[in-house]
Amino acid sequence: MALWSGRFEEDAAPVTRAFGASLPVDKALYKQDIAGSRAHAKMLAAQGIIPEEDAEAICAGLDAIEADIDAGSFVFDIADEDIHMAIEAELTRRIGPAGGRLHTGRSRNDQVATDTRLAAKALAKRLMEANLGLRRTLLDAAEAAGDTILPGMTHLQHAQPVLLAHHLLAYAWMLTRDFTRLAAAFDAADASPLGAAALAGTSYPLDRHMTAGLLGFSRVIENSLDAVSDRDFLLDLEYACSVMAVHLSRLAEEIVLWSSQEFGFITLSDAYSTGSSIMPQKKNPDFAELIRGKCGRVVGDLVQLLMTCKGLPLAYNKDMQEDKEGALDAARTLEQCLAVMTGMVGTWTVNADRMRAVMHRGHLAATDVADYLAKRGMPFREAHAVVGHLVLEAEKAGCDISELPFEVFHEASELFGEDIAGALDLDAIVAARTTEGGTAPSAVKEQFKRARARYLVD
Ligand code: ARG
Repeated sequence: MALWSGRFEEDAAPVTRAFGASLPVDKALYKQDIAGSRAHAKMLAAQGIIPEEDAEAICAGLDAIEADIDAGSFVFDIADEDIHMAIEAELTRRIGPAGGRLHTGRSRNDQVATDTRLAAKALAKRLMEANLGLRRTLLDAAEAAGDTILPGMTHLQHAQPVLLAHHLLAYAWMLTRDFTRLAAAFDAADASPLGAAALAGTSYPLDRHMTAGLLGFSRVIENSLDAVSDRDFLLDLEYACSVMAVHLSRLAEEIVLWSSQEFGFITLSDAYSTGSSIMPQKKNPDFAELIRGKCGRVVGDLVQLLMTCKGLPLAYNKDMQEDKEGALDAARTLEQCLAVMTGMVGTWTVNADRMRAVMHRGHLAATDVADYLAKRGMPFREAHAVVGHLVLEAEKAGCDISELPFEVFHEASELFGEDIAGALDLDAIVAARTTEGGTAPSAVKEQFKRARARYLVD
């Protein structure tokens, strides 16, 4: 019989047992549930609502239950429905009537919100750690890249040369913003719902600030209805996870491309590659592909919770029980993706020669040739057209613009002098892009400083 069965004359239909239960998912929150109950019991005693001995018995009983769950010897029964009732029922079996006092002035509604907030804070913290790990690895890889250049692309077509370090730092900045989003999600979760009880508060003289303090919450939630029905903190966490997963997916896509025979920009370590059961030569970037694939799961989790919440009247509705599975899945999946991505980036080999070898295709110098003319007085639009024609000639001749003979340049415009060679030199082109945030080694050096400073303050 369920803890709530007093007003019922019939047992629940067997088919509803597993259907209504959240235990398979929320048993993962047992530590949070026990911490919340300990804090609540201590507060009840401090406020004179239950006897001190009862609070002590409750806490000792909870300690023993926690040890049993830790050890894997606690037997869960789906009939208990959720982790809250599983632990409370067992507590009362172990310590008798004192256990029955634990739920004074509390509802599963504020209890589950408390547990979930504590879990969300812990998950955000872990993800922040993992985020820092990958950022460190990206910064190291960027540092190791030195002055290596590769074709910068738009539309996956050669555009302008860039430093590999600059390219990798772009991902470090995405992850820096992801960290900020995780910190915001942590803060959203960092408020105690305890004391809201079912929805309206209680008539007991609870000290909400005491339980909040014992549980490490920085504040209490202002409105009891909001306290039991707010799941924004999970949406915030799942959104932060989703955006970070999208960033990892983009990097994963580049890894898949870069490790292909067509690009050959990087070689993945054996430890982060897989083979084929039929093709002996294969070395596949499965783990990058999986990171790209799992991103869909993480974003799906966010969308699921948005849909779950969209039509809910105040206050608690059982629909909300569907909140935890996706949130836990999103965070755990992302944590795995971060660990694998960190290992993959940390162990790849950069093929700098190959990056350079492909740069004589695609007319990467074209913009700088147009700039050359514009800096000598030709309106940029006109210069663009002149260089467009040079590109056409190069295409017809089957070469890169940088390989055209000087006479062809000179025919196209008298403004071209012998020093055009400088505008065609890819390293010089990169070195000239000294705009703050640009790809010149001097600008990237400054960028490194700022990226490292952000790494330290986060
Ligand atoms: N298992 C429930 C959940 O995960 C706990 C809260 C249930 N409250 C209720 N009144 N049915 O949301």
